[in-house]
Amino acid sequence: MAQSRKIGVFGAGWVGLVTGACFAELGHEVIVRDVMPDRIDALRAGQAPFHEADLPEVLERNRDRIRYTLDADELADADVLFICVQTPPTYSGDADLSFVWSALDDLPRGESGRQVLVMKSTVPVGTGEKVRAALDGRGLTNVGYVSNPEFLAEGHAVHDFLNPDRIVIGAFADEDGAAVEALYGGIEAPVLRTDVASAEMIKLAANAFLMTRISFINEIANVCEAVGADVVEVAKGVGLDHRLGPHFLRAGIGYGGSCFPKDSLALKQLASNSGYHFHLLSAVIEVNELQKRRVVQKLQKHLGKLRGKKIALLGLAFKAGTDDMREAPSLVLASRLLAEGAEVRAWDPVARPGDLMKGAVLYDSVLEAVEGADAAVIVTEWDELRGLASKDVRDAMARPLILDGRNLLDPAETRAAGFAYEGIGRPSSPFEALPETAEPETRVQN
Ligand SMILES: NC(=O)c1ccc[n+]([C@@H]2O[C@H](COP(=O)([O-])OP(=O)(O)OC[C@H]3O[C@@H](n4cnc5c(N)ncnc54)[C@H](O)[C@@H]3O)[C@@H](O)[C@H]2O)c1
Repeated sequence: MAQSRKIGVFGAGWVGLVTGACFAELGHEVIVRDVMPDRIDALRAGQAPFHEADLPEVLERNRDRIRYTLDADELADADVLFICVQTPPTYSGDADLSFVWSALDDLPRGESGRQVLVMKSTVPVGTGEKVRAALDGRGLTNVGYVSNPEFLAEGHAVHDFLNPDRIVIGAFADEDGAAVEALYGGIEAPVLRTDVASAEMIKLAANAFLMTRISFINEIANVCEAVGADVVEVAKGVGLDHRLGPHFLRAGIGYGGSCFPKDSLALKQLASNSGYHFHLLSAVIEVNELQKRRVVQKLQKHLGKLRGKKIALLGLAFKAGTDDMREAPSLVLASRLLAEGAEVRAWDPVARPGDLMKGAVLYDSVLEAVEGADAAVIVTEWDELRGLASKDVRDAMARPLILDGRNLLDPAETRAAGFAYEGIGRPSSPFEALPETAEPETRVQN
């Protein structure tokens, strides 16, 4: 068990709230500050502001050790201050650090002893140097600076925080690194103590590597489609090689979310700002963009022109287990389909797109979403969709076509249930191959 310290957290988003909750779970006193009054009110009323497994329980279990505030001054007596604010991309693709700088402007001036400021937000390499200089410029030489990037993944963020593969701590001064390491007492994980710039780069490089694997297997999937192999089998065989491993080798409709797209762009720009053209990463990003759009071509292959066709998008969150729709492939798909004149019917168990998906109609159940649909597209790998190839769904649809963007279903079983099935990187079946369904009549005028 770690010695209990006072921890202040800037930002009650996915990273800030999970960080606060988990440090409280480890026995520390935590105060979380956000600038959104609604968010703070909800948290004080015991409500988690977004869908994240285990988070409500951990917050509830530790409610005596965690407080919420809008007032940064209430963090003045914290021993360690974590910056967990958003770092979205700017128009140029660089990371927008304005939220980080505004949090730094709000830094309370602690009266007692040394405070350590810890950057958990994902920032470009060199940010630590700049923040250090700014702190020194403001006379805050007694505030230490540590880079401690976060690797949690939404959907199992609490588990990831408490069971990390590693804890990376980059510090200018050893004593500050040691103070941050001590906070994690009680967690079994290798700790990598390093310099600030390398810690910053580890986060960007790790994400870029994961994205590279995704784009790589997606390209293999596209070649599989052309030559008649099944990427699911291929990935299995490749992943059994101990030098490669099985992770992040699932072909699909491309990555999304609040981190991968922006972090890949930020690293690409970071490199090019320094005069280096990161060719491989540029290709990874482009492959991902094309991958999202291939679904539209596949629909056209089966349905012809999409004008007036009803397409059900099943799953809107960028992945299962979260209601986060930031940079979700569903957004690109919906807008491409609407642009083609299709009618978009959508369903998700938790994600609510609001204005993000203007023109699409949201339904409460899968069955309502597929009613009269010419195709159903699995966009998010929700467990609820594993039973999609049912008689009810088949009867409800105008044409029994399933485009499985996550390779969630068994192709043979789906076809045996009377659907035309097309996955990603797997042999597809045209309507003619359906066991008992005639070629559908064309109901729609183009
Ligand atoms: N979401 C993830 O899965 C994940 C994983 C690892 C790292 N990260 C990185 O962590 C950072 C935060 O990501 P997130 O998903 O938690 O973002 P988020 O948008 O969910 O949350 C950020 C929060 O910070 C608040 N905020 C903004 N300015 C503030 C200020 N001055 N003081 C206090 N609060 C302020 C916002 O109101 C918001 O609630 C980003 O840099 C992200 O790249 C995210």
